[in-house]
Formats: sequence, C-alpha cells, structure tokens
Amino acid sequence: MIPPKQIQDILDATRIEEVIEEFVTLRRRGVNLIGLCPFHGEKTPSFNVNPARNIFKCFGCGKGGDAITFLREHENLSYIDALKWLARKYNIEIQETERTPEQVAEMQLTDSLYIVNDFALKHFQEQLFDTDEGKSVALAYFKQRGLREDTIRAFGLGYAPEQRDLLIRRARATGHNIDLVKKVGLCSQDGGRDFFRGRVMFAIHNISGKVAAFAGRTMSSDKTIPKYINSPETEIYIKNKTLYGAFQAKKAIRQQDECLLVEGYMDVISLYQAGIENVVASSGTSLTEGQLQLIKRNTNNLKILYDGDPAGIKAALRGLDLALEQDLNVRICLLPDGHDPDSYVQTFGGEAFRTFTTKNAKDFILFKTSILLEETKGDPMRKAGLVKDIVSSIIKIKDRSKREEYIQGCLNLLASSNAYGRREAEEGIRSEIIKEDTKNINKLAEKNSRQPGPISDTQGSYPDYHQTIDPHTPSSNTEPNSLGQDRRSALMTDEFQERDIVRLLVQFGSQTLDKEGISIAEFILADISESLSDFDNALYGKMAGLCYDLLLEQKTPDQNFFIHHPEKEISDLAIDLLTSPFDMSHNWEARWGYPLQNQPIPDLNFDADMRQALDRFKLRKLNKLCNVLNPARIKAASESENMEEVMRLMRIQEKLKSTRNELAKKTGTIVLP
Ligand code: GTP
Ligand code: MN
Repeated sequence: MIPPKQIQDILDATRIEEVIEEFVTLRRRGVNLIGLCPFHGEKTPSFNVNPARNIFKCFGCGKGGDAITFLREHENLSYIDALKWLARKYNIEIQETERTPEQVAEMQLTDSLYIVNDFALKHFQEQLFDTDEGKSVALAYFKQRGLREDTIRAFGLGYAPEQRDLLIRRARATGHNIDLVKKVGLCSQDGGRDFFRGRVMFAIHNISGKVAAFAGRTMSSDKTIPKYINSPETEIYIKNKTLYGAFQAKKAIRQQDECLLVEGYMDVISLYQAGIENVVASSGTSLTEGQLQLIKRNTNNLKILYDGDPAGIKAALRGLDLALEQDLNVRICLLPDGHDPDSYVQTFGGEAFRTFTTKNAKDFILFKTSILLEETKGDPMRKAGLVKDIVSSIIKIKDRSKREEYIQGCLNLLASSNAYGRREAEEGIRSEIIKEDTKNINKLAEKNSRQPGPISDTQGSYPDYHQTIDPHTPSSNTEPNSLGQDRRSALMTDEFQERDIVRLLVQFGSQTLDKEGISIAEFILADISESLSDFDNALYGKMAGLCYDLLLEQKTPDQNFFIHHPEKEISDLAIDLLTSPFDMSHNWEARWGYPLQNQPIPDLNFDADMRQALDRFKLRKLNKLCNVLNPARIKAASESENMEEVMRLMRIQEKLKSTRNELAKKTGTIVLP
C-alpha cells in the first residue's frame, strides 16, 4: 500500500494538463485547454482540460475525471499503477507500507500465476527453438505457414512436445509450486499429466502484455481431436474480457482509429506480420460486452472480417446489436470463398488485403439487411419477420440522424429487391420502430415510477444532463415520444432543486460565508437537515448525506473529496456538476415552460445563488406538502371520520400555503393553484 500522505503528495504534484499532454495535443481556449478526445473518434475537439480544477471532461462522449481516472481509462492502469505512473513522472519516491494480509495473498496469487505462465512461455519457446524435435516439427510448421522468426517471438509462440509430463518435471526441477501449475491449467488436477501435449503453442497476453493464458493447436489433421485447446479461466484470464492480440494491436488501433476483428489466432498473427497491426481476435466466440468495451476504449470503428457460410455469418450477426448499443460504427467485410484473413494475406499480401477490405466493407445494418433479403427471397410469409429483425438493430442506434440514414439505406435495399414496394417497406419499418420505441419508453417510465433516479438516468434518451437541458438544440438522442414522459416526471419530482443544492455543496461547500462566518456546507445543511431523507433522487440525497456526515465529524467537504471519491457514481456526478455549473438556472424556463428567476453566474455570486437555491428547494418541498402529502392526510382523516384531525390538518394546510406563497413571492415563482 502507498501511504495516504504520499498519495496526497503525488496528487498535489500532479498537473492534469501535463499528464494529458503526454497523450493528447492540447491547445488553450480561455482558462481551459482543449483537444481531440482520445476516448472517442472526433474531428472537432470537445475534450476539455481544466487546469484550475485539475479535471478533464469530454462533452462528446461524457468521459471525465482527474488524472488518475485518465490514466486508468486511457492506459488501462489500476489505481495503484496510475499513482505509480504519476510518482515516476514527478520524481516522487514511493515507500510502500505493509499491505493487509488479504492484499498480500491476492497480489501474491496473481503474481505467482503470472510467474508460472512466464516459466511455461520460456519452456514452450525453448522446446520450439532449442530442441531438434521442436525445430524440425513445430518451427518448420510455423515457417511453412509463412511466419517469420521475429513474428514468432513477438507473439510468444512455442511448442509442447507429445510427452506425458515434460512441463511438470521441468516445473519441479526449477522449484515451481505444482499447485500453481494446476491452478493456471497447465497440468491435470492430479498433477500427473501436462495439459498441452503435441501442440504448437500461442501465448495469450493481457492488455498490458503479461501472459494470461495459452492456446495450443494440434498439428494433426485428425478431425476427431479439437483443433485448439485453451487454458481455463483463472483470476488472471477472464475470457470474455480478453481479446487475442489486443496488447500488440493497441497502439495501431488508436493511431488508425479502427479495429479489425478476425476469428482466429493465425489471422491476427499473419495480418500483423503483413503490417496490418490494428487487429484482434475473438477466438471463435461471439463478442461479449467486455470485449466491446475493450475496443471502445481505443476506437469507435470496428471492422469485422468474416469467412464462412451464410448461416454461420447470420448467427454471428445476431451478437452484433450489442456493438450498436455501445455506439460503435460496425462494418462487415466478407472474404472471398475459401479464404480466411490468414490465408488471404499470406496469398495476396498486405496491400491487396487493405485494398480488398476497404472496398468490400459494408455497413453492418445494410449488410444484415441484404443477407436477410437474400435468405427470405420469394417467401412472402417471412417479410414481416425480416422488417422486425432489421428494426431490432436500428433501434439500438441512439443517434437520431444516424438512425434516419439507416432507415433510408434499408428502404433503398428493400425497395430495390422488388420484394417490397417502397411505401410498404417504409410503413413497415416506421410502425415497427414506433412499436419498439413505445415499448422502451414504457419500460423506462415504469422503472421511473418505482425508483426516481438522477435526471440523467430517468430516460435512456437523455444520457447527459447538460446536453438535454436546452430544448432549442435538441440532442441527437432526444426521443420526441419520450419528451412528455420525461417532462412530467421531472415536474413531479424535486430533482432539479436537489441537483442545485448538491451542486452548491460540491462547488462551494468549503467556502466561508462572510455574513455568517460558517462554511456554505454548514449553512445549507443546517437549513435543510430535516429534508435530508426526503430527497427524490437517491444519489443527490446520498451526496448531501455524505456532506452532513463530514460536518458531524468536524470536517469540511471540498471539491477534492467528491472528485476523488472512491464511489464512481459520486465522483462522476461531482465532475459533471463542476463542469456544467449554470445549465439549469439558465435554461429552466425555456425548457419547463414556467418561470424561475434569473440567476447571476454562480461563480461570481454564490451567496445569492445559494440562498435562492435553498429557497427553491424548500419551495418544492412545501409545494409537495401542500399539494400532495397534506391533502392525502386530510382525505384519509375525513374518510375515517376523524373530524378533529381533519380540522388540525386544515389549519396546517393554511399555514403551509401562506408560507409557501411567501416563499414563492420571494423567489419570483408563480405558484400553480
Ligand atoms: P488455423 O487452422 O490454424 O488457420 O486456425 P484458424 O484460426 O483458421 O481456425 P478456425 O477458423 O477453424 O477457428 C477460428 C478460431 O476458433 C480459432 O483461432 C480458435 O480460437 C477457435 N477454435 C477453432 N477450433 C477450436 C476448437 O476445437 N476448440 C476451441 N476451444 N476453439 C477453437
Ligand atoms: Mn485459418
């Protein structure tokens, strides 16, 4: 563990712009720096770095955080490794203290698993390069398949001879713990037999280049034995988060802003050798969400290369809606009959491969449409099913204008196939889309009514608060159908007011009020402490509660407390609040159609800003008491004919109303009767 004091030293020394400039070209814009976002492909910069607050935020993809977040996301580092990276950059010597026994055990286990795999890698390489059998059988095999020696070494290829327990004996002789050898799956559970025998070996690296697992390919043409076998899942090998070749390809994927996806190990290796380095393999399975995220960290553009028969391809396409959901641009390229990427590039060379795949890559949805059309040709019974199938993919695209492009593209295809009239196709697609949209909206509405989340979560169509707030620049994700729903739910809850309160706490909480001589956080929380448990939005309530707890411990919450909070939802919200400070008050009226007083820019006048926000917050709570809670109590009391209670509640109602009206006058809000 790094001692807290040193963590603080590292964080204090860190200038976010200096860190990010190592990866992104930044230029100054006002007090901020701006550049092209490294997390999503873009042509106009929306990636902001704020040196004063030591945070970054991309207004395109929404990613944001501090230097640690940046390193974790961009370089795939762990928290500790990100700290170490910074320590190295700023020449701070880290004296690690004692770890807890559990931490030691865990670190030791993963470390020792990697150590065993490293041993095995060396063993397989020795067998390949330094033994007669290896050279004559395995090395010859690789060379016959067109691989050069530098490639063979770069990918950690090796050889496991056909012997019962060669690896086990070597492990013993070199002092390795056989339990660990079992654990990584290199031998049988009784420790009697090697797992990989008579196979050429492929090291599977994790994203930072450590050997996480192995695959072994048989050299026999016997169809009854599996062609490839793999290490089992372990603490260091989680299959659905691993992409073969990702470590070697990472840099090229970023540089070229595209990732090629192939099926096989040999495909990756041969392409890489031919200079096409931005390539990874899913190893024969369909893509998982974890794998897609791995790609998404480096590029938004995915080109998938398929070989094989239409049925297999159709099955593979089914998994790809997941990629659309992740907002990836997916293109598909079919290779000529009888070729996989490996055989194509070995036969025709890298240049030909590039030309072919550039020319023949088709957009995924259009590709899928044409495959389905081909398949259902002349079968009128399956026309409706086809439209449904296409729409199931289109609906995953959140960007409205992109969606429209696809609809047009698909319509053209359908119409030109002669199976559909254009009108018929258009009506079919549109009505199916509306059906699906409605379904989703209802699902969200239901979720909403059960559990109010933050505004940014209330609708799938509103991914980012500050994008959605101005009705005059409709976000590309805005669903016209869901607007009514969203508006209603926001009007019924107090989330805007709550957000404003939390924003004040995060932004100014530690500052001292001149008049009262106490911190803003104290002032706010003293004022609303009774309402702390009444927050409509659970996350905002949690933030306020956190502040309250800190105050009870005589500590003042400051921005860093929130920005560096270990809970991601808290730090994300803090960054969001700090980077979009005025959105609500400036656009409230335009969006919600009823007035709210104008507010000075909060940074310049936070005192007034805060008092008004508090008033608005209380007004909302009072309104709720007046309009909903108290009337419900009155109704209940009168139903049970408890007239005394009714009278009491009526008096309270009058008092509530007058207080509410006073407050409303003060804030300049018109109270709806
Ligand atoms: P080569 O025949 O060496 O060119 O391999 P390939 O990659 O062309 O093989 P193929 O197209 O048959 O399979 C594609 C990928 O699916 C392989 O790279 C493996 O990751 C996986 N795969 C193929 N056969 C098996 C198998 O028998 N078992 C397992 N677990 N995976 C396999
Ligand atoms: Mn092949």
